[in-house]
Amino acid sequence: MSQSRIAIYAGTFDPLTWGHYDLIRRSVSLFDRLILAVARSTPKDPLFSTKEREELTREAVKDLPTVEVVLFEGLLINYARSRHVRVLVRGLRAFSDFEYEFQMALINRKLAPEIETLFMMPSEEHSYLSSSRVKELVALGGDVSDFVPPVIRTALLRKYNRAG
Ligand code: COA
Repeated sequence: MSQSRIAIYAGTFDPLTWGHYDLIRRSVSLFDRLILAVARSTPKDPLFSTKEREELTREAVKDLPTVEVVLFEGLLINYARSRHVRVLVRGLRAFSDFEYEFQMALINRKLAPEIETLFMMPSEEHSYLSSSRVKELVALGGDVSDFVPPVIRTALLRKYNRAG
C-alpha cells in the first residue's frame, strides 16, 4: 500500500504573505497533505501573538482543504518526527536566503538524516516579499493589498489602527 505523502512548511508567519501562499500552493500540488507549522517561540519579536499568527494563517489558507495549520514548539525535526513526516518544505526567494537556509537544512539533516529539506522558488512576482517589509509598509500608511491576503491586510490595518 502506498503511503500518503505529507510535508511540513514551518515559519513564523508574522504574518503570512502571498509569497508564503504561493509556496503553499506549490506544495499542495506535490503532496497529499501539507502541515503549516507556526513556530510558537521565535527569536524575532512578532507583531502578532502566537494565537493570532495561528488563526490568521488558518484563515488565509481555508480554501485549501489538504492544508492543516498547527503550532509547534522546540526543534522542527522533533515535531516532524512526532508526525512521521520526512519532508520539510522551504522557500528560496533570493541568493540572500541561501546561506541561512543552507545552514538550517544541513543542521537539520545532521540531527535527523531521515528528513529531507525540499527547496522551492516562489514566483518571481513574490520573490522580493517579506513579512517585515509588509509590516513596515502598513506602519507607514502604504497599501499592501497586492502583498497579503485580504484577511491579513485587515488584521494589519487593525494592529496599526489604520482605516481599511
Ligand atoms: N514569501 C515571502 N516571504 C517569505 C517567504 C516567501 N515564500 N519565505 C520566507 N519569507 C520571509 C518571511 O516573511 C520572513 O520575513 P521576516 O524575516 O521579515 O519576518 C523571512 O522570510 C523568514 O521567514 P520564515 O520562512 O517564516 O522563516 P523563519 O525564519 O521565520 O522561521 C523556522 C524559521 C521557524 C522554520 C525555524 O526557525 C525553525 O525551524 N525553528 C524551530 C527551531 C529549530 O528547529 N531550529 C533549527 C535549528 S537549525
